[in-house]
Amino acid sequence: MSELVTVFGGSGFVGKYVVRALCKAGKRVRVAMRRPHLGNDLRVMGVVGQVQLVQANIRNAESVERAVDGADAVINLVAILNEKRKQTFDGTVHHGARLVSEAAKAKGIKKFIQISAIGADKNSKSDYAVAKAMAEDVVLKNVPTATILRPSVIFGPEDNFYNKFAAISRLTPIMPLIGGGQTKFQPVYAGDVATAVLAALENPAAQGKTYELGGSETYTFEQIIKYIQATIARPRGYMKVPFGLMKFGGGVVNLLTKFIPFLDAPFTGDQIELMKTDNVVSEKALGFKDLGINELVSVESLAPTYLYRFRPHGQFEEISKKPA
Ligand SMILES: NC(=O)c1ccc[n+]([C@@H]2O[C@H](COP(=O)([O-])OP(=O)(O)OC[C@H]3O[C@@H](n4cnc5c(N)ncnc54)[C@H](OP(=O)(O)O)[C@@H]3O)[C@@H](O)[C@H]2O)c1
Repeated sequence: MSELVTVFGGSGFVGKYVVRALCKAGKRVRVAMRRPHLGNDLRVMGVVGQVQLVQANIRNAESVERAVDGADAVINLVAILNEKRKQTFDGTVHHGARLVSEAAKAKGIKKFIQISAIGADKNSKSDYAVAKAMAEDVVLKNVPTATILRPSVIFGPEDNFYNKFAAISRLTPIMPLIGGGQTKFQPVYAGDVATAVLAALENPAAQGKTYELGGSETYTFEQIIKYIQATIARPRGYMKVPFGLMKFGGGVVNLLTKFIPFLDAPFTGDQIELMKTDNVVSEKALGFKDLGINELVSVESLAPTYLYRFRPHGQFEEISKKPA
């Protein structure tokens, strides 16, 4: 029988690409999710019976143990960007990873992939980055054969980066260039991240190692914003806003979202803190090539196919300007 892989966070943006890649590779996939009744789109990624949906909350040890029971491999993609009520960075990202890795250890599971992020750092002023670093540590402590994958910002039709800034551009005549706009990013396609997850799972040489996953090009935040606005044919003015001011604004919005359940902050103080550091693959890091992946999808080949909906006349709008 083919391997059974339990995926935590399989219902999320990147998780769906991972589930699809696992199905294509013939694995049996168990998606551990808080609301399995909402996961019918996951079921159809495989043949009948290939994808199993089980209820689990990464903050609940019993549900995590049940989800891992009988699995040959575990993938943890769970994270949050905004803290809300019980969903804290420490509880969900750090201790969630602890519970999953403890359960894997108890069941003797050696194949474990932890999705982290470039910038994970115990000394960071960002609570997200600290929780990500603590999660890496606890996973490796419990399952030393685990592979850590740290992507840069991830793009794809359902992303929360290009789509978000395109949506903001639709509303505002002036776009804030956070911290002056010079922070660097190396956007990577969600499908390429999923390919890396599969490659790491299949390759025993990847066990115990950390890989940083960046796309083929590096851009400053300013370049990304200008690219988005050219692609959606909405030229805007720009204003350089210092990190401190943006962080204050983000902090206020974040505070409001903690008390208003359905309000989502476009960005939080913590995310502004993250943007103070370049989000690119470090020089000595292992990466896609070390996982045998040499061809990556570029932003320019994909983003216009899903950003068109933000143009003033949607798909009927001729792109007036070539991307910068
Ligand atoms: N997107 C990026 O640009 C980016 C960049 C670098 C690293 N990453 C990392 O990649 C991973 C996936 O990111 P993403 O963009 O796909 O995030 P996402 O769309 O927000 O998905 C997060 C997933 O976590 C699940 N989750 C949250 N809290 C949970 C809990 N208490 N118990 C069980 N499941 C829970 C969500 O399930 P529900 O459906 O129940 O909410 C969802 O499936 C994360 O670890 C993230 O840090 C992402």
